[in-house]
Amino acid sequence: MDKKLQGKYLRIISPVSPVKLYCSCIMNVVLTVAVIALYVTLSVRKEKLANVSPGPCYATCPRDWIGFGSKCFYFSEDTRNWTSSQSSCIAREAHLALFESLEELSFLKRYKGDSDHWIGLHRESPQHPWRWTDNTEYNSLVLIRGRREHAYLTDTGISSSRDYTYRKWICSNHKAILCKGQ
Ligand SMILES: *[C@@H]1O[C@H](CO)[C@@H](O)[C@H](O)[C@H]1NC(C)=O
Repeated sequence: MDKKLQGKYLRIISPVSPVKLYCSCIMNVVLTVAVIALYVTLSVRKEKLANVSPGPCYATCPRDWIGFGSKCFYFSEDTRNWTSSQSSCIAREAHLALFESLEELSFLKRYKGDSDHWIGLHRESPQHPWRWTDNTEYNSLVLIRGRREHAYLTDTGISSSRDYTYRKWICSNHKAILCKGQ
């Protein structure tokens, strides 16, 4: 609002002392500056958000991978030992498959076909706890059979064997977020 006009208006409706009027003018200026500052801050924020997501975004998996929930899974055709399977997953910017729920596990079982597949569980020795490839401890959602150090998925559950056996394997990773215009 026009400051002069506001001042005049105040003088007409109320016989205010010049000191009071002076104070209210200062208050007006302070409030106006505050509102402008807030507006500028908010629009800068909006712009920043817009830069992060310039268009509609969607979660996606690489070609030849299968999406389930927020993850992508790769089922190999080839066979390798456990260590070499993990290297192959890392080369694909992933890791040997981990599952976080029984739903994910039954999805893996459903899609693996008839063959057994290496997954991302291993332990140093039968006395050590099972760990995922990121070194987090396995919560024992499903029992792992056998007394070996490397786990693989079978039709009936999870078993363990030595590293050197050649099997197919499953890699997993989080879906990538792609935005249009990037
Ligand atoms: C796994 O396979 C790789 C490549 O074939 C080989 O170099 C490595 O020695 C094997 N490791 C074990 C433990 O069998």
